[in-house]
Formats: sequence, C-alpha cells, structure tokens
Amino acid sequence: MTVLSMRKMYVLSGLLALLLPPLSHQEEHHKLLLVSFDGFRWDYVNRVPTPNFRAMMDEGVQVERVENTYITKTFPNHYTLVTGLHAESHGIVANEMYDPVLNRSFSMEGPEVYNSRWWEEAVPLWVTNQNSGQRSGAAMWPGSDVSIRGIYPTRYMPYNASVPFEMRVEKLINWFLGPEEINFGVLYWEEPDESGHNLGPESPLMDVVIEDIDVKLGFLRDKLKKAGLYDKINLIVTSDHGMTQLSHDKVIELDAYVSRDLYTWIDKSPVVGILPKEGKFDEVYNLLENANPNMVVYKREDIPDHFHYKHNVRIMPIIIEVKEGWTIVQNKTGSFMLGNHGYDNHLPSMHPVFVARGPSFRTGYTKASMRSVDLYPLMCSVLGIQPLPNNGSQMSVRDLLVETFTPGPVLPSVPEEPSYTWAVGPVLGSCLVLGFLIMFVKQVTQRQLPPLPLTNREISQPLLQDELRL
Ligand SMILES: *[C@@H]1O[C@H](CO)[C@@H](O)[C@H](O)[C@H]1NC(C)=O
Ligand SMILES: *[C@@H]1O[C@H](CO)[C@@H](O)[C@H](O)[C@H]1NC(C)=O
Ligand SMILES: *[C@@H]1O[C@H](CO)[C@@H](O)[C@H](O)[C@H]1NC(C)=O
Ligand SMILES: *[C@@H]1O[C@H](CO)[C@@H](O)[C@H](O)[C@H]1NC(C)=O
Ligand SMILES: [Zn+2]
Repeated sequence: MTVLSMRKMYVLSGLLALLLPPLSHQEEHHKLLLVSFDGFRWDYVNRVPTPNFRAMMDEGVQVERVENTYITKTFPNHYTLVTGLHAESHGIVANEMYDPVLNRSFSMEGPEVYNSRWWEEAVPLWVTNQNSGQRSGAAMWPGSDVSIRGIYPTRYMPYNASVPFEMRVEKLINWFLGPEEINFGVLYWEEPDESGHNLGPESPLMDVVIEDIDVKLGFLRDKLKKAGLYDKINLIVTSDHGMTQLSHDKVIELDAYVSRDLYTWIDKSPVVGILPKEGKFDEVYNLLENANPNMVVYKREDIPDHFHYKHNVRIMPIIIEVKEGWTIVQNKTGSFMLGNHGYDNHLPSMHPVFVARGPSFRTGYTKASMRSVDLYPLMCSVLGIQPLPNNGSQMSVRDLLVETFTPGPVLPSVPEEPSYTWAVGPVLGSCLVLGFLIMFVKQVTQRQLPPLPLTNREISQPLLQDELRL
C-alpha cells in the first residue's frame, strides 16, 4: 500500500468517525496481566513436559519466534516490553550504565535505580494506563517501584528478591479484585534466569528449574480461577531474553590488549561499553579493532542500524560485542558463569517465550514471529488506551486478537487505523462507499475537508514505514 493511499484511508476513516457514533465507547475493555519469567528461552517449553504452558497455547495463542531488542539484557528488555521502544529510545540501554550528561553511573543492583532521571526518556504502560483514568498494579517489574514522571503504579511492591512468587501472585490478584480494582498488572519472577546463569542452559539440572516455572504458572492459573478472574483476564506470559551456554575455553581478557589506564569499563559481558579517557579514543580503538577474532569492536556511530542501538549518550563511544558463547573480562578473576545472554538479538538462543490467552485473544493460534516492541501497542489495544509514540506495530500483531475486538477507543477527532473497518463489519462497508462518495463530491466541488489533526500516532511512527514497504 502506498503512502498516498494510506493517507486517503486516513481521510476516509476520519470521515467515518464524523458520520458514526463512536462504537467502542460502550465496550468494556478487558483486564490484562503481563508476566515475565526472566530468562525463559523460547524452546524451554519443548524440553520437558510443561502442561501449563501447553494449556495456555491450546486456550490462546503462542508466538514461536519473538525478536527482542539489543542488547538482550534484563533491564533494557523489560523496559522495551512496557514502552514499545528500542533501548536507544527508552534510555535504559544496559544493566550497568554511565550517563555523561548526568555524570552518574547506574547499576541494576544499586540505589541509582531509584533516580527517576534514568527512566524518564520514556513512559511505561502502567503510567499511561493511569493517566487514562485506570489503575495499575506491579509486582517487582524493573522500574515499577520508581517514580516515573512523578507517578508510581497505583499499587506496587518495592523490589525484594526474597518475596516468593506465590506472594507476588496473591497481592496482584487482590489488587485485581479491588476495592478500587486495577485493570492492568505486571508480574516479574527472577527464574529461570538465575539458574540459567549458574548451571548453563545445557545442564540437565535445568530441566527441574523449567518444570518448576511451569508449576508456578499452574499456581497463577489456579489462583485466577479461584478468584473468578480466569475468564475475564487476558494473561500474557513472556520473558526478556533467552540464554546460551558458555565455556571456560572461550574467554577474552581485555587486559592482554589495552591498559586499564586508558579507558573505563562499563557494563558486563557479552556487550561491553568502553569509555576512553580524555584524548585516548584513537589509541584505544586502534589497540582493540583487530585484537581478537571472537569479538567485534564498534565505534558508536558504526553500530549496525538494525540493532537500533546508537542514538543515546548512554551508549559508550566504543562497544565490544563478543561472539555467541564467549565471555569478555578484564582478567580472569572472580566467578565464572556457565550461561549468559546479552548477545545479538537475531540469535535464536536469545529469544524469549510468548504465550497468551483470555477474552481478547484467539484460541489455539500459532504465529510464526513478532518483535517484542509490538507487544506494547498490542497491550494498548487490549486495555483500550492510546499508545504513545513507539517502535512497534499494532497491525503486525493484530492477528493474535479475536476478530470482533476493537482496538483502542475511537475518538471522533483522531483517525483510527486505516483498516478500522475490519472490526465493525459490513455496516461500515456501506459507509465506506458513502465516504468515498462524499469525498469525491467534496473534491469535485473544491470544498475544504474538515482539517485533520497532524498528530496522528501511526503517521508519527517511523517504523510504520517498514510496514508500508511490504
Ligand atoms: C563527575 O562526578 C565525579 C564524582 O562522582 C567527579 O569527581 C567529577 O569531577 C565529575 N565530572 C564532571 C565532569 O563533572
Ligand atoms: C523481603 O522479603 C522477605 C520475605 O517476605 C522479608 O522477610 C524481608 O523482611 C523483606 N526485606 C525487606 C527489606 O523488606
Ligand atoms: C586481575 O585484576 C585484579 C583487579 O581487578 C587484580 O587485583 C589482579 O591482580 C589481576 N590478576 C592478574 C592475574 O592480573
Ligand atoms: C522509535 O520511536 C521513537 C518514538 O516515536 C522515535 O523517536 C524513534 O526514532 C523510533 N526509532 C526507530 C528506529 O524507528
Ligand atoms: Zn533477564
């Protein structure tokens, strides 16, 4: 479809909105619970019996290949899931960061997590949900116990890794039940990431860990059923990234190539930010460029565009990415992990699981692939709220939703998606013809069309251009 015909469709749907009462205003939007099991690789469900994941696939949808965002680390990807933005655009570019403007360092384990400046390059969905008059609840999701643009989730738990999964679930369910019930919840659990790092994903001991996650999902489903919520709630279960096996034989020691006096080391393997000392950029880059065949060294401006990992001062002037399965350190001291993630987001081993079920989702449907940035506009559809500008595409994941489902509120002054009519059926079909006629007449008579707002959210999304080329 060309841009021109898209624009015509916008004009048309604008006209339709003027002709028709906004249908979905009366529609009740469904509740939504987003769950992340940290580091749950997409293929873990095929490795041991996972009856609860299987049941969700039968009752709902699964996506076989979810491409997450670079770098495939925990904080960047959890913020992507709730903003629809790549890391360079939401600002949480790594688990450990340095911001030269703020002159501050961030560590996911340190107190800087609570400095809202790190988070405020974006607005997470729980805040937008509240700004549209609804209530959100959060159990340990990264960033969810931070005041972002002055707003905390309506209900949340301060981060505490010792709080058991079951307690997190019970809290959330109580918040969904009210009083002042939430309509949107996010739930985070640290496993199987932790075991994946310690044991390595290829260890047979991981089988038990995966089975335990399935039991936890079973606990959640059971509690939702007992609370009478199971049929009313949309449940999405996904993760931030996968995990790959490491080896003691695949370690790069940076001290062998460049003196520590020349640079500051930011973040951890497998993607490391190098901040050269004043005036040392060329020296450091030249020493590293061809130092080791198992690592790639980028100047920030040369990082490939497909990573969408360039336009942010928190991305260091030099980035080192090691090959899958390799580890980079300054020297071999300290503990060694057997599993890791963070590598190229095109590697299958880095991809997370994705299943969803509930009144808004189709049943027994398998989709081949999606991008994790598309989850945000999908969730906005389910919640009936206007997405903020983002890097995802509602259209490319719309097939996960039941056909009668109307995405988002239709405001008379804001044109909806061009294919708005799919949801409302033949009645609108005839109106479409009428719309064409009116437009034709108006053009012939040289009369002015009602002005359309230029702030249309779909037009303002550069990524949509990718879609238009299809
Ligand atoms: C950045 O902060 C450090 C202390 O954390 C300070 O020593 C240094 O002078 C600051 N740099 C600039 C450029 O302000
Ligand atoms: C964290 O949670 C555990 C288990 O519920 C509790 O015993 C502990 O006091 C909590 N720690 C803090 C700092 O709240
Ligand atoms: C490795 O680095 C640490 C500092 O992080 C230093 O104390 C130690 O001596 C180094 N070991 C070797 C073998 O160079
Ligand atoms: C992602 O979305 C943001 C906000 O609309 C935009 O500024 C940025 O350019 C987008 N990135 C890409 C790669 O399209
Ligand atoms: Zn993680």
